[in-house]
Amino acid sequence: MPKPLIAGNWKMNGSRAALAEVDAIAAAAERANGVDVAICPPFTLIEPAVRKVEGTPVAIGGQDCHWAEKGAYTGWTSCAMLVEAGARLVIVGHSERRQYAHETDEEVRRKAEAAIAAGLTAIVCVGETEAERDAGEAEAVVARQLRGSLPTDGAERLVVAYEPVWAIGTGRTASCDDVAAIHAAIRRDLRAILGDAAGAQVRILYGGSVNAGNAAELLAVADVDGALVGGASLTAAAFVPIVEAAAAQG
Ligand code: PGA
Repeated sequence: MPKPLIAGNWKMNGSRAALAEVDAIAAAAERANGVDVAICPPFTLIEPAVRKVEGTPVAIGGQDCHWAEKGAYTGWTSCAMLVEAGARLVIVGHSERRQYAHETDEEVRRKAEAAIAAGLTAIVCVGETEAERDAGEAEAVVARQLRGSLPTDGAERLVVAYEPVWAIGTGRTASCDDVAAIHAAIRRDLRAILGDAAGAQVRILYGGSVNAGNAAELLAVADVDGALVGGASLTAAAFVPIVEAAAAQG
């Protein structure tokens, strides 16, 4: 079984003062044997966050990247820039970027390929909307996103996050049965796309309103290899119990 990853996505939240939370998260990560822990703060906080976690097992990541090495792309950040700032991973294709920045599967794939080529771990996000789930299309939508968004090389630095859009920031989570069904389908798709051995090793995270109260049962579902956590990653008080729940299953 792949080592679980608990990754926090701060979105457009946080400040230098809030980095005190990272100290407490790093202390908990040191005790959580067998669990990888990461925090993805806004770009401006990556470098100070990296300094905070130096010598601890916590990895710092970005929330987006561009696929080009450099150039006339106002407002974007390249993978090389993330690496230089000390990031070790990057989230690509988050539903908020697919929705508000109109990112396509093709763009997400190019970003993931660039991230992996730069030595970063890429967390590729997929997930259906509520209307798609109600129409019985959840698995088909996720399968289509995977085929379009996944790089076919570098599986050892690839993570997939299944995040049903209707569960993000809403306090609603998918049922364990639904999570089990989708994660099993994602595992089948990963094996088909990447080959059997590589597809079996890619971690599949669940994301969407994960918190201290529901983490243990979600993490116990087959093929759930960790969590991508938004709101509950902003404070150590909310995030550390999720890390501990993952460690307790090891
Ligand atoms: P949430 O966000 O935990 O606040 O629902 C998850 C995410 O968007 O990654």
